Amino acid sequence: MALTILGIESSCDDTSAAIIRDEYLLSNVMASQEVHRQYGGVIPELASRAHQQNILPVVSEALRQANVTMDEVDAIAFTRGPGLLGSLLVGTSFTKGLAVAADKPIIEINHLQGHILSHFVKVEGGENRQPKFPFLCLLVSGGHTQIVRVDNHLDFEILGHTIDDAVGEAFDKCAKIMGLGYPGGPVIDKLAKEGDPKKFRFAKPNVPELNYSFSGIKTSLLYFLRDQLKEDPQFMENNKADLCASFQRDLIDILMKKLILAVKQTGIKEIAIAGGVSANSGLRNRIEEEGRKRGWNTYLPALKFTTDNAAMIAITGYFRYQRGLFAPLDIAPISRSAEYGD
Ligand code: KG4
Ligand code: ZN
Repeated sequence: MALTILGIESSCDDTSAAIIRDEYLLSNVMASQEVHRQYGGVIPELASRAHQQNILPVVSEALRQANVTMDEVDAIAFTRGPGLLGSLLVGTSFTKGLAVAADKPIIEINHLQGHILSHFVKVEGGENRQPKFPFLCLLVSGGHTQIVRVDNHLDFEILGHTIDDAVGEAFDKCAKIMGLGYPGGPVIDKLAKEGDPKKFRFAKPNVPELNYSFSGIKTSLLYFLRDQLKEDPQFMENNKADLCASFQRDLIDILMKKLILAVKQTGIKEIAIAGGVSANSGLRNRIEEEGRKRGWNTYLPALKFTTDNAAMIAITGYFRYQRGLFAPLDIAPISRSAEYGD
C-alpha cells in the first residue's frame, strides 16, 4: 500500500511543507521570510511570527498541489531541531494540533539528517541517482559544518565538526563585513565567478583530526580589509570580486582538506554534499573535480533541495515510519544538536 507523508519544516526562516508518496515528491511549498533582509540576519522573534502567519497556508497549498487530502496522509513528520526555538515551536505545535484533529501519528525529524537524506527524494522523470551505503556526507549549512558517515537511511556517525562558526556563517559574515547584504552565500558565489581566486590569501585554521574552524579566517579578512582601507578607501569597492573569489576559494580549500582526509581514513569513496552551502557553485565544481581525480562517486543535491525545505523532512519521515519511529504528543523541540540523543 502507498505510504504518504506530510513533512513540515520551520527551523529557521523558511516555512515549508511537502508531500512524499513512496519516496516520490508530490509537492514542496515554501514561504521564505523577506523581513530579515533589512536587518542583515535572521531575527528570531520575527521568524516565529512569520511562521505563525505562513504555516497554515503553506500546508494547505502543499496538500492542494499534491492533490492529497489529510485522510490520505499516513503520518506528519516535523522538524524537532536543531534550530531557533521559537520557530521550531510553531512547526511542532501546529503538527500536534493537526495530528490530533486528523488522528494521525507524528514523526520527529533531526533537521541535519533531513539535509543528508535530501539525496533520497525521488522526482518524477528525474535521474534519481542516490549514494550507496556507506557514504560520507559533507554537511555544510548556516548552522553546521560536519563530515558524517552514513551507514543506512537512519544510522549516522559524525566524524568531524566545526569547533566554532559554521561555513555558511563565514560566508554570511564576510558578506556583512563587505556590505553585500544577507544571506551572503549566494551573493559571494555570484561575485566570485568574476574574480581572481588567487589574488588574496587569508589565515587557514589548524585544527586536529576531522574538525573544522572558520572564525579565524573571518577575523583575518576583517583585519586585512581594515589595513587596506587605511591606505586606499576604495580598496574594497575596487577589489570586490577578487576578495569574494579568494575568500570562497579558501573556505573550499579548508572544507576539502578534511574531506580528503576522511576518505583516506575510512576508505569510503561515495561522497555527497548537503545543506545550504552545497548550492555554492565553486564547491560543487571542486567536489566533482576532486572526485574525477581521486576516483570518488560524487552526489550533488538538486539546488532546490540544498537550502531548508520540507521535502527532506518528509523523506526522512518516510524512512522513520517504516521503522515505527513515532513521537509522543508531549514531545518538545530542541534547539541545539548536542541535545539530540539520536
Ligand atoms: O541549510 P540552510 O538553508 O539553513 C541552515 O540549516 O543553516 O543554509 C543556509 C546557509 C546560509 O549561510 C547561506 O549563506 C548559505 O547557506 N548559502 C550559500 C549559498 N546559498 C546558500 N553559501 C554559499 N554559496 C551559495 N550559493
Ligand atoms: Zn538547514
